Amino acid sequence: MQFLFLLTSLLTVASFVSAVPNPLPGSENIVVRDPTIWYNPTPRKYFVFSTGEGIRIFTSPSLTGSWTRVGTVMPNCSIINHPGNCELWAPSISFTLGKYVLYYAVSTIGSQDSAIGVATSPSMEPGTWTDLGAVVTSKPGDVFNAIDPDLIDYNGLKLSFGSYWNGIYQIGIWPDVNNPASPTPGTHLAGGNGRPAEGGTTFKPEDSPYWFHFFSDGVTPLAGSTSRPPPGEEYKVRVGRGTGGMGPFVGQLGFALTETRDPPTGSLVLGSHDNIYAPGGQSIFKDPVSGRYVMAYHYVRNNDTVGGQSYLGINFLDFSSGWPVVVD
Ligand SMILES: *[C@@H]1O[C@H](CO)[C@@H](O)[C@H](O)[C@H]1NC(C)=O
Ligand SMILES: *[C@@H]1O[C@H](CO)[C@@H](O)[C@H](O)[C@H]1NC(C)=O
Repeated sequence: MQFLFLLTSLLTVASFVSAVPNPLPGSENIVVRDPTIWYNPTPRKYFVFSTGEGIRIFTSPSLTGSWTRVGTVMPNCSIINHPGNCELWAPSISFTLGKYVLYYAVSTIGSQDSAIGVATSPSMEPGTWTDLGAVVTSKPGDVFNAIDPDLIDYNGLKLSFGSYWNGIYQIGIWPDVNNPASPTPGTHLAGGNGRPAEGGTTFKPEDSPYWFHFFSDGVTPLAGSTSRPPPGEEYKVRVGRGTGGMGPFVGQLGFALTETRDPPTGSLVLGSHDNIYAPGGQSIFKDPVSGRYVMAYHYVRNNDTVGGQSYLGINFLDFSSGWPVVVD
């Protein structure tokens, strides 16, 4: 009896632990950071853009591969005259105002001397990108850092950015993708008090009344790092929701993402599980082929040596419960 009870408990625990689906197959060896994903229906190809060099470009005929590194958005660096303008970060892709629009960040580790720039293309292919330069900048002493851009269309275009320091903010963009239309820092969406919240992504599923603000919370392991943070403090994807694209966004406990609380605000979407360690740097889009919502992110392999590379994770998201759930 006792044995059976124990066995049942173990099985329950086991099925609970394995409840988080693994990433779709096909991208387990694709080294990326902060991936952002889109689809071009003309050549029927998916495009993933990643931090590194002048933003790395990968393409694939399907979400399950095979992924190919095809080139770089800005092989000759960004025109922004700033430290870090050849090693660009945290791209964000969308199809906006009739063109493919890619925001990127120029910065150096731990610095607030940063800029967000934008490049546009008719196709997303290497060699077709026009760099329009800086849109938002920050300097030491600002409440935000001008990195981790994300664009939405909510009562006109809105660009969010920022991490650590006092968190993630949002300004208006008008009339074109390289024109700030309201002053920084703008509307405070998430984070604050130096909380390690970054990589904000705002998204509205077509069939949901809610807007969701996803962000990466915690310490991200960089390639070459020599230690891991205490368990539970590593990167994870959290979310809050609101009735508009400018917040306030609240987690399932009802607290706004801008509140400083313990436990921290924002509900868990994806944390470490199985061989997936410290997932984050996420982006969300609706896949026009499957009609499903897709999250792309990076993670480190749990079985790798500390300081290993990060790889491309892709999963479907289901919003039917009112909150995003990672599903097969
Ligand atoms: C980068 O610079 C090289 C050398 O000046 C040039 O040949 C090449 O066309 C440039 N590439 C782009 C995409 O501007
Ligand atoms: C670690 O995980 C990767 C990806 O799942 C796998 O290919 C590799 O064989 C594993 N390495 C070891 C040493 O188990």
